Amino acid sequence: MSKVKVLLIGAAFSADLHAEGYARSTDLAEIVAICDKDVSRIKDLADRYGFKDYAVYDDMFKAIEEVECDVVDICLPNFLHVEAAKRAFAKGRHVISEKPLATTVEDAKAMVDAAEAAGKKLYYAEDWLFAPALGRALAVINEGAIGKPMFVRARECHNGSHSPFTKTIKFCGGGSMVHLGVHPVCFMLALKNNRWTELTAMTSGGGEANLWHRDMEGEDWGAVLMKFEDGTHALLEANYVTCGGMEDIIDFYGDKGCIHVDLTMSSAVSVYSEPGLSYTVEKADVTTGWSKPAVDEKFNLGYVGEIRHFMESVRDNKDAKVGLRGIDGYEALRVINLIYKSAKEGVAIKNDLL
Ligand SMILES: NC(=O)c1ccc[n+]([C@@H]2O[C@H](COP(=O)([O-])OP(=O)(O)OC[C@H]3O[C@@H](n4cnc5c(N)ncnc54)[C@H](O)[C@@H]3O)[C@@H](O)[C@H]2O)c1
Repeated sequence: MSKVKVLLIGAAFSADLHAEGYARSTDLAEIVAICDKDVSRIKDLADRYGFKDYAVYDDMFKAIEEVECDVVDICLPNFLHVEAAKRAFAKGRHVISEKPLATTVEDAKAMVDAAEAAGKKLYYAEDWLFAPALGRALAVINEGAIGKPMFVRARECHNGSHSPFTKTIKFCGGGSMVHLGVHPVCFMLALKNNRWTELTAMTSGGGEANLWHRDMEGEDWGAVLMKFEDGTHALLEANYVTCGGMEDIIDFYGDKGCIHVDLTMSSAVSVYSEPGLSYTVEKADVTTGWSKPAVDEKFNLGYVGEIRHFMESVRDNKDAKVGLRGIDGYEALRVINLIYKSAKEGVAIKNDLL
């Protein structure tokens, strides 16, 4: 088959993460068009990754209407995912959506339904499922090396989003839980095939109640305890009150051992610099003194593997793996909203879908 043709919508932060994946999958895929309402970002992105012969659009609906492609990759603010996806499905394209799938569970369901009605696939971009270190940890668990896994503790935390859209619930759907917590939540749901039984949560509440970011409508700290059908327990956390760079930390506990995974701060390189480096790890503002600069950060966080998996799935007209299908993005967002309900009402919530 000829290469998978991709229309990339959005040319900023997450598009850059995906672009690394496309640049390393040129045997499988080609970017045929890029759309961003700020067109200056398009050339910068394409030059960084060596994309050539792509069409440029500043209007996403025009791009979806005109571009001959196999898949539309949506790297837009959360509130724009649903309309872009519906239009793309109506044109008979497959769709990749960044996380969270939408700002509301209803919109997420509309995306899943639109894919089904069109007979096309909705791919949900959860990079943690392709992080090589997590793959290694799961292989260790599967060979029985820590005995029966009983408890998982996982978190994604940093000091606040770069994107202005993340401050307003209407545009993004919540706070640190919907932005960052969606990674550990989706990861656990994928491990357990969505078979969770009960959750109980607490958040900082948003706005004036926040620990630090009072200009954010959503919470800047949140945590949830979850139980799964096989007896596994999990403690999942997401916050915007962590200085010094992004923390993606996952601990697994079994009755014969444990595993600690640090996706962001465990570089093999240590640097001491008095003037500072241009970059160390995501969301690290200070780079002077001792630091652990990331090595191949986008590969190690899973973006390269994620894009390759989606390109193979489009080529073969197949669903993605568990955790990466539209219904998994829907379930992750449903759980996030139940976390909000639990935190607000101070109640434990059972999974009424089991
Ligand atoms: N998987 C991850 O780790 C990860 C990391 C960051 C962001 N994300 C997700 O990626 C998505 C985008 O976030 P981001 O950080 O890239 O945001 P961003 O603000 O950096 O970029 C959004 C881009 O969309 C463009 N845009 C906005 N409205 C548009 C429109 N109507 N038509 C065309 N272009 C438009 C903006 O000009 C901007 O360049 C969000 O859903 C976010 O949650 C995922």
